[in-house]
Amino acid sequence: MASHSGAFSLVALCLLLEVVLRGTAETLVPAVFVFGDSTVDIGNNNFIEKCDIGCKANYPHFGVDYLNHTPTGRFSNGYNLADQLAQLLHFDESPPPFLSLSNASLKTRMSTGISFASGGSGLLDATGNGRVCTQVFSMTEQVRNFTKLARKWGRADLISKSLIFISTGSNDLFEYTDFSDHNSNRNDTVFLESLVASYTSFLKELYGAGAKKFTVASPSLVGCCPSQRAIAHDPKNPRDIDEYGCFAAPNNLSRQLYPMIATMLHDLSLELPGMNYTLVDSIKILEWVFYNTVIPSSNFTVLDTACCGGGPFGADGCNSSAPLCQDRSNHLFWDEYHPTAAATGAAAKLIFDDTTGLFTHPINLQQLVEL
Ligand SMILES: *[C@@H]1O[C@H](CO)[C@@H](O)[C@H](O)[C@H]1NC(C)=O
Ligand SMILES: *[C@@H]1O[C@H](CO)[C@@H](O)[C@H](O)[C@H]1NC(C)=O
Ligand SMILES: *[C@@H]1O[C@H](CO)[C@@H](O)[C@H](O)[C@H]1NC(C)=O
Ligand SMILES: *[C@@H]1O[C@H](CO)[C@@H](O)[C@H](O)[C@H]1NC(C)=O
Ligand SMILES: *[C@@H]1O[C@H](CO)[C@@H](O)[C@H](O)[C@H]1NC(C)=O
Ligand SMILES: *[C@@H]1O[C@H](CO)[C@@H](O)[C@H](O)[C@H]1NC(C)=O
Ligand SMILES: *[C@@H]1O[C@H](CO)[C@@H](O)[C@H](O)[C@H]1NC(C)=O
Repeated sequence: MASHSGAFSLVALCLLLEVVLRGTAETLVPAVFVFGDSTVDIGNNNFIEKCDIGCKANYPHFGVDYLNHTPTGRFSNGYNLADQLAQLLHFDESPPPFLSLSNASLKTRMSTGISFASGGSGLLDATGNGRVCTQVFSMTEQVRNFTKLARKWGRADLISKSLIFISTGSNDLFEYTDFSDHNSNRNDTVFLESLVASYTSFLKELYGAGAKKFTVASPSLVGCCPSQRAIAHDPKNPRDIDEYGCFAAPNNLSRQLYPMIATMLHDLSLELPGMNYTLVDSIKILEWVFYNTVIPSSNFTVLDTACCGGGPFGADGCNSSAPLCQDRSNHLFWDEYHPTAAATGAAAKLIFDDTTGLFTHPINLQQLVEL
């Protein structure tokens, strides 16, 4: 009897172990750590008291297509790019917001990932803080908090196999365009170089804490989002527009910045042993949609107007009393700044298994995680 029940518990234990192991071994990387702005924030800003309402997304219509139609802090109708990339790596969704975790749970969460992303933040500490959002969780703080935790945790082996996903830089371009419009002394090259220098130091800090695999999403054509189209087409003060009908000035900055980021990452990977990366060319992805090439399994027909929001281009802001479009699957933009879940879902698929070499350099995400 004793040996019988012993055999039984052994079987039960094996079954249990199998479930546990399969549950964890299924993901393609041990953990995902997310850094950046509202394109990937999943609720950190909810926990920043001084962060004003315009920099939060924890009220309807945000989340209208998320589980139970819940607004979570995601600047989207549903899952955002961080969620969708995490799902392609076999996680349920993005790792949880750092600021939502207790000290006790931080340690256990390190083994599967944490999101440090904060809407409104940028590569420069000043971005978001004060001028636009009152207070955000800056990239400097995001990176420092991660490296501090990583050192305390002491599992550089697991961190080196995990994915660092960063999406930042757009807010720096928005604010620079907004605030330096009439500044004749402005020197775009000097400004863009300061962004790249800042990016370099963040990547080095992350590498110093054990990170080896990086996916970096470059800022897209930020002048094409509804808020910037509305500025450019303001009849009282019209600005130069480009071939897509977008605000030319910020798009010009994005186009100059991309090759600078590409060179920086290439050089850094030669300098830092074992570093590998996927650089996402977000400009190419957007242009592909504009050129009306069909992104696999999508059908965008509304490319310039927000789904949620009133006014020209739907750019007056999303809230519970704002107009909401019926079909979120054919809109490129959810609100005045952010893409729909349909758009980021299509982008995530391209990032994961781009075989054309047009959208990811030098390798796609699938190749990166397999290294
Ligand atoms: C959490 O940890 C930080 C530093 O690691 C400490 O400053 C803080 O007091 C801790 N919070 C609690 C509630 O223990
Ligand atoms: C960690 O984040 C908090 C904000 O929640 C910030 O006050 C603190 O300065 C950060 N720590 C570091 C080392 O940057
Ligand atoms: C901008 O700064 C760079 C580097 O300092 C300099 O080479 C360039 O001439 C400047 N451009 C303008 C338009 O002042
Ligand atoms: C940006 O604008 C400047 C003139 O303002 C132009 O010389 C340059 O070619 C543009 N760059 C890009 C990448 O469009
Ligand atoms: C990965 O990184 C190593 C060293 O940094 C480099 O030699 C190798 O070519 C990279 N692999 C790919 C596929 O880029
Ligand atoms: C494409 O549009 C049709 C009609 O609006 C919709 O039913 C379908 O779900 C869309 N496809 C995707 C992949 O979103
Ligand atoms: C709600 O959104 C509408 C349309 O975008 C806008 O006109 C209105 O000012 C917003 N309301 C608040 C309280 O922000």
